[in-house]
Amino acid sequence: MKLLKNPGWFGRQQREKVLNPAADDSGYTYFGLRHLPAEKKKDAVRRHFNQVAPRYDFMNTVLSFGVHYAWKRAAVAMMGLAPGDRVLDVCGGTGDLAVYAAGRIGGQGRVFVYDMNTEMMRAGMIRPENQRLGGRIHYVHGDAECMALPDNCFDAAMVGFGIRNLTHVKQGFAEMYRVLKPGGRMMCLEFSRPVNPVFREVYDLYSFYAMPLIGRLLAGSSQSYACLSETIRMFATAEELKSILAETGFESVSYKRLTNGIAAIHTGRKPERT
Ligand SMILES: C[S@@+](CC[C@H](N)C(=O)[O-])C[C@H]1O[C@@H](n2cnc3c(N)ncnc32)[C@H](O)[C@@H]1O
Repeated sequence: MKLLKNPGWFGRQQREKVLNPAADDSGYTYFGLRHLPAEKKKDAVRRHFNQVAPRYDFMNTVLSFGVHYAWKRAAVAMMGLAPGDRVLDVCGGTGDLAVYAAGRIGGQGRVFVYDMNTEMMRAGMIRPENQRLGGRIHYVHGDAECMALPDNCFDAAMVGFGIRNLTHVKQGFAEMYRVLKPGGRMMCLEFSRPVNPVFREVYDLYSFYAMPLIGRLLAGSSQSYACLSETIRMFATAEELKSILAETGFESVSYKRLTNGIAAIHTGRKPERT
């Protein structure tokens, strides 16, 4: 099998155009290597997740060798959730983060999974772990860039592996900020760029050779998994993400790299007085 096209790790200017389509006069943006009009990206993302939804959890576990569970558990632990908290899981998909959060907020707490893809949420709802904590987890269908939720109503807001897919990433963070109560905590778990160049080479080979092949064999699609690797290489670095969060208004923003930087957890807080 041929190595699929590796777009390489995008430079700063290219990354800025992906983060903010308005920075590109053409009105186009990227979804993986697909260059498409910015207003069409949301539909492309929806179709992508419709296709992967039935096998999403299984493929995540296979492709990450199960490590994604440890990342998600660590990310939720860093939020310092307390009993009774109201938590928002933006781009929550099948609800892995929601389940970990629901385990920490007691019977009075609530987690709201917010996603534009009903297939993803439906795949999560039927899992035993979601059902076990079902009374604490609620599902809301909607767009993360324009959430149908009131201002200042959540104690914590998190997003796991979802912000990268938005058309306007900064708008997604602005919405998380808006719906948080003053003093509320934000967490973003997202893929990032491995630090060690040798490790990065190995990771590139795995991403553009093994992953699409495994995707084809186990899920019937190599393209979906090539697209995943492409979007990662076009996204902001951990340091850039930290700046974006600070510009959004979050304070005490910091991050922790996971597995040599394959992923990163960013945390921050909405100021008490805004
Ligand atoms: C890679 S999945 C992540 C799911 C889950 N958070 C996890 O960590 O496994 C990305 C999710 O983001 C959702 N998504 C992408 N763009 C969105 C948008 N504009 N509004 C709401 N959800 C969106 C997709 O439907 C998908 O369920």
